[in-house]
Amino acid sequence: MLKILLLFVLVEYTLQGRHGRQYNRHKGHHNRYKGVPSWSHSNRYRGVPSWSHSNRYRGSKTTQYDSYRPRKPTWPPSTTTTPIVNTTQPGGGDVRLPLNLYPVLYELELQPFIYEINPTDFYFIGKVTIQMECRQSTNEIVLHSNQLNITTSSVRIEPMAPGQNPIIPTIEFDTVNHFLILKTNTQLVSGSNYSVYIEFRGPLLSRLAGFYQSSYQRGNDTIYIASTQMQPTDARKAFPCFDEPAVKARFNVTLIRKKHLISLSNMNQIRSKNLANDWVADQYAVTPLMSTYLLAFVVCDFTFKEKTTANNVLYRAWARPEAIDQTTYSLDVGVRILTFFEEYFATPFPLPKQDMIAVPEFGFGAMENWGLIVYRETSMLYDPLDTAENFKQFVTMVISHELAHMWFGNLVTPSWWDDLWLNEGFANYIAFVGMDFIHKDWLVLDNFVVSSVHNALSFDGLISSHPIYVPVSNTDEIFQIFDSISYEKGGSVIRMMQFFLGDETFQRGLQLYITERAYGVASHDDLWDALGRQSIIDGKPQKVHDVKRIMDTWTLQMNYPTVFMERIGNDIKLSQSRYLRDKNATDPGTYNSSFGYKWEIPFTFTTQTNKDFNQNDADIIWMGKEGTDILLSGVISGNDWFIGNIKQYGFYRVNYPKDNWDKLTDQLKMDHTIIHPVNRAQIINDAWNLAKSGDLGMNTALKTVEYLSMEDSYFPFFAANNELVYVRNMLERTELYGDFSAFMKKTFSIPLSELGYNNTGSGHLEILLRRLVVERACDYGNEDCINNAISSFQNLMQGTGPINPIDVDSRQNVYATAIKYGGVKEWDFVYNRYKTSNVASEKLTSLVALSYSREVWILSRFLQYSLTDDIRRQDGLIAMRLIARNPIGRSLVWDFLRGNWNDITNRFGSASFLIREVTAKFNTEFDLQSIQTFKDSLPNLGNAAAAFDRAIETTRANIKWMDSNFQIIKDWLQNLS
Ligand SMILES: *[C@@H]1O[C@H](CO)[C@@H](O)[C@H](O)[C@H]1NC(C)=O
Ligand SMILES: *[C@@H]1O[C@H](CO)[C@@H](O)[C@H](O)[C@H]1NC(C)=O
Ligand SMILES: *[C@@H]1O[C@H](CO)[C@@H](O)[C@H](O)[C@H]1NC(C)=O
Ligand SMILES: [Zn+2]
Repeated sequence: MLKILLLFVLVEYTLQGRHGRQYNRHKGHHNRYKGVPSWSHSNRYRGVPSWSHSNRYRGSKTTQYDSYRPRKPTWPPSTTTTPIVNTTQPGGGDVRLPLNLYPVLYELELQPFIYEINPTDFYFIGKVTIQMECRQSTNEIVLHSNQLNITTSSVRIEPMAPGQNPIIPTIEFDTVNHFLILKTNTQLVSGSNYSVYIEFRGPLLSRLAGFYQSSYQRGNDTIYIASTQMQPTDARKAFPCFDEPAVKARFNVTLIRKKHLISLSNMNQIRSKNLANDWVADQYAVTPLMSTYLLAFVVCDFTFKEKTTANNVLYRAWARPEAIDQTTYSLDVGVRILTFFEEYFATPFPLPKQDMIAVPEFGFGAMENWGLIVYRETSMLYDPLDTAENFKQFVTMVISHELAHMWFGNLVTPSWWDDLWLNEGFANYIAFVGMDFIHKDWLVLDNFVVSSVHNALSFDGLISSHPIYVPVSNTDEIFQIFDSISYEKGGSVIRMMQFFLGDETFQRGLQLYITERAYGVASHDDLWDALGRQSIIDGKPQKVHDVKRIMDTWTLQMNYPTVFMERIGNDIKLSQSRYLRDKNATDPGTYNSSFGYKWEIPFTFTTQTNKDFNQNDADIIWMGKEGTDILLSGVISGNDWFIGNIKQYGFYRVNYPKDNWDKLTDQLKMDHTIIHPVNRAQIINDAWNLAKSGDLGMNTALKTVEYLSMEDSYFPFFAANNELVYVRNMLERTELYGDFSAFMKKTFSIPLSELGYNNTGSGHLEILLRRLVVERACDYGNEDCINNAISSFQNLMQGTGPINPIDVDSRQNVYATAIKYGGVKEWDFVYNRYKTSNVASEKLTSLVALSYSREVWILSRFLQYSLTDDIRRQDGLIAMRLIARNPIGRSLVWDFLRGNWNDITNRFGSASFLIREVTAKFNTEFDLQSIQTFKDSLPNLGNAAAAFDRAIETTRANIKWMDSNFQIIKDWLQNLS
């Protein structure tokens, strides 16, 4: 899954040339070309056997059922349900399934009703037969079911051996754990096989979870579609199932739809049958062994474009008919990246087809359902005339991320959600590797540092952080770890691991892990084991044979170290200590470290005379978890500066004595190009964050940005901008803001005059840099920039044709500036574009611009809209977060959040990101009180508990920052002018 937070970063990236080894794709279990076509009448999908003939999926225990004929669905299905039993059990207890009965094959049929009735009454009916093997004798079957009405009279358990009678169970529910409990009088016996049959009915709500409804406009008509989002725990809202990631089974899916619609699922369609009343039943080939959270069902009126990959996988891109032309780019990228990953992982994509679909309402960025990846429209659709460069990069990144999951997550699945990072950390990082393959010139692997590593370091600098590997049990806890730690820190430590193993060993180790674990599950120890064995095979140094010993220090304890580099004569002394944003913060004691907050650090450095920014694993100096200092003898001479952590491959900060910092900042001013752009970004990021924690004087941090108006690389600018946004947030309501704003205006006006406004002929990174510079310059009041934007906007408003005359990469700034300096007329004009544009990125660009208004009543109205269908549900939280960034909007959103907590959490499922955004600028005792009071007033924090703790810790740190730095910044600003 791709969290929507990443939409805000709209990131970019890099990697050196890396091509997968060729592999023999005609061996082993994975031969998808030689299967026996069964009763499929579609020749396009060759080699997809029906479930009863297949033995090609590894780990399959199904051959024993070959003689068993499951109940065939009856057509057409009845549309009535009998009353449900509603025995609410106390709940609590173990949230995990006992698994005495273990599912092997599901025969599932679902029929959504999305027409001819009121949308609030939309529902679906379903039938499922689950074949199970009994692994431990028991008198009950426990499976998951949530918000489903079970037709009790339908429920039957059948022993799968001849001559035995069906068992009619009594039915109970545990509504806290979402358990459906079937109790039997007869004992179910270990070693025997049973099947259970259940009919059910569920609501098709617009909640973006489980099986849900979505809609879009065509002229005055509303077109409805039914779609799914199962991860992590919502498959149980679509049908009764064993809804845990490790419980893999095979699925034989049938979707029933109206004749004028189409249906899609994970596998290829093998049969379509007309039923009464214009209903059609589409049956899909049986899936390989897979987890429930990866299932997907869609019923809609979309059209598609298709291609075939180099290795003969049918690849289709689906969208609203009006938007189908916007799928060209993603289809092309998807096809190429899928093949790239097949080679990178040396494992063919095991399904006969791969669909990508852009649904109009989607709660996340995208979801990696096996064979049917669902995207938010902004994550997949690309229109060269109307979609900006940063969106293009975002689309590429999301496609690559989801395709990486086809191996990391889908083929090999974490045993439990506590290892979620194995999915998300890998997808987060490997996405950049795939993207680099497509666009070398984007330097995305360098970009990963500023877009992911720096975020992770920031999030993980708090005492309220958590280890990458974290025990979780219930749904709230599971949801909370879809966070920066699993994605960005996970990705960052994987990149570090690639560095210390070397690219080849890393890649071959992953291939080993995937080959050995395919169709099964794994934990982080399995990964360390495979990588360790590979490093022995490859003759790597002893140190990296025991990957677990190294990686445990990064994944089992939270936070990360600062390495202090000190010069003593011609030697350099290294020591490590834990970085904490606030050293005095009280440890809530949730997580203990078994390593005493010491790490196994792959350290690298360079000096002025022996400059080398192109280092590899052979250059590593290991600092051990014993924490002893290290002396590097005779490595430096003269008056040299030195820099640690080349290209920031390691997940740690580096600090120096003041005189080395001074030499580095002098170097930046004299000739910044001597230092690699990634290390320039690192110097800025480290200095500012060491200043935040009190490890470095603020004066020194400020010096790292004095050269900025001479900077010409996007990455250091990006890093500096993040820190300067922080200062802005802190100073926004103080008397210093005027001076600060003047400094910023000057800093961005110089590069603006060099870069200009015209993107014609510019490369990717130059376009991104120009955009950053122009936006900041306008933001801080550069008159030329503002006038330019306002007059472009007037042209647009007065224009009549369908063509938008504004350069696509300037639109965000033009709309935002016009709204900031305009009134309700400009706002309504852009709002209308949000409502009516056929291009998702244009909608989002408009939405962002709407938050720039300085009129309180306009912002209030916008806030109200965001909680209703005036703003798409998928965009509602984004709108609120954007308004919270506006200095005027911030207190509005805070009041709104407090006044509408239940409505907001009901509508969006979680308010965690909103809490983080709205409190980001809090820096007074009064603010702190306000969070505490609000938190205490809530009877049930749900999945927002951690977000509150972080908000409190961040606010405390901000208060401290103001106390220590306000005067220093004041003096600095006055000396500058
Ligand atoms: C059924 O359970 C739900 C959820 O606990 C509860 O809100 C509802 O009142 C119950 N209904 C009946 C008829 O007992
Ligand atoms: C489920 O049952 C409840 C109580 O009988 C009913 O109000 C609700 O409409 C049913 N839901 C569906 C989707 O049939
Ligand atoms: C849409 O509805 C509006 C207002 O009811 C009406 O004026 C317009 O003609 C309708 N358009 C179409 C294409 O039916
Ligand atoms: Zn993901």
